[in-house]
Amino acid sequence: MATHNLFMLPGDGIGPEVIGQVRRVLDWFKESGIATFNVDEGLVGGCAYDAHGAAISDADMDKAMAADAVLFGAVGGPKWDGVDYDVRPEAGLLRLRKDLGLFANLRPAICYPALADASSLKREVVEGLDILIVRELTGGVYFGEPKQITDIGNGQKRAVDTQVYDTYEIERIVRVACELARTRNKKVSSAEKRNVMKSGVLWNEVATRIAAEEYPDLEFEHVLADNCAMQLVRNPKQYDVLVTDNLFGDVLSDIAAMLTGSLGMLPSASLGAPDEKTGVRKALYEPVHGSAPDIAGQGLANPIAMIASFGMCLRYSFNMGEAADMVDQAIANVLAKGLRTGDIMQDGMTEVGTEQMGDALIEELGALAS
Ligand SMILES: NC(=O)c1ccc[n+]([C@@H]2O[C@H](COP(=O)([O-])OP(=O)(O)OC[C@H]3O[C@@H](n4cnc5c(N)ncnc54)[C@H](O)[C@@H]3O)[C@@H](O)[C@H]2O)c1
Repeated sequence: MATHNLFMLPGDGIGPEVIGQVRRVLDWFKESGIATFNVDEGLVGGCAYDAHGAAISDADMDKAMAADAVLFGAVGGPKWDGVDYDVRPEAGLLRLRKDLGLFANLRPAICYPALADASSLKREVVEGLDILIVRELTGGVYFGEPKQITDIGNGQKRAVDTQVYDTYEIERIVRVACELARTRNKKVSSAEKRNVMKSGVLWNEVATRIAAEEYPDLEFEHVLADNCAMQLVRNPKQYDVLVTDNLFGDVLSDIAAMLTGSLGMLPSASLGAPDEKTGVRKALYEPVHGSAPDIAGQGLANPIAMIASFGMCLRYSFNMGEAADMVDQAIANVLAKGLRTGDIMQDGMTEVGTEQMGDALIEELGALAS
């Protein structure tokens, strides 16, 4: 039986509650003889600040660097609103992303049939939706220099952000998207603004070359990012893998997320470059939602986003596609049976808490395995 090294950072608020349900799923995998996991746990966010005065300690950073994958819960809360900028809870996540070199952010938008009526769009537009947004995470306008506000006299100021991409940054993110498309429906759409931005011209040029030279088996298309936003709400099922830069990816992945309903349902993965010796990528898996202080500690959090993030970990870090499919199927089945946490509650359904949703998912995994 394979053994994988997982480093867990539950964080603050509902983070420990939803990670707690992943621990139960890990136990189930072990008891079923499918895989075992060596699990270590550390502190990140506000709880790390309380313990060490930093949003993540150097010792925990070292453990994250050494692990096969990191599972991250959520950070933040009103208790730490006033702490210094450099040690605020989010700084822990930013350091992990930076030090692990996580340049590719993967956000699937999957509409489970049982939740199609919960979307703000018509059932036929979203039912069966399964797309994957691949966002460049470490470059572009959020990090480019100069980045400043200067006084230009006459009571005027000038704000500058710099959108900047080098060839290698575009090459590696396009390769990630193409590799993923090969495991899916073999179609990649690349979104940029080549009509008005030089970075879009280069993005388009590099993406076209990589797709043609290295992935001739894939269907590859370009779409202007603003048109892509429209298409995502008009006919999202036309896409399979969508690759784009940091800024457009931020916006487009939020649009895609809301096609499928609640924040409590959305998983994500962030991947780095493959290790030169082992070929394994550094990786961090986390739900899209935050620490939800309004419901923390009450046993009300929806654990599905966190468990689906672990499913992505099985698929992308541990090459356990079948086990990942089981996790996804268990989620679909539990929803089809009418179980709902408060955030996705609908008329006629049965409202459950975090622990009961975990019970139901584990029972469903057992049924799928037998
Ligand atoms: N990656 C992260 O750790 C991350 C991301 C976003 C926000 N935050 C932090 O989280 C704190 C709260 O931020 P926010 O309220 O803007 O966003 P949030 O995602 O924590 O919550 C937004 C709303 O969604 C609900 N919600 C979120 N996840 C849920 C789940 N799993 N089950 C049921 N309901 C859920 C919450 O109860 C709340 O009403 C802040 O300190 C913020 O900085 C952290």
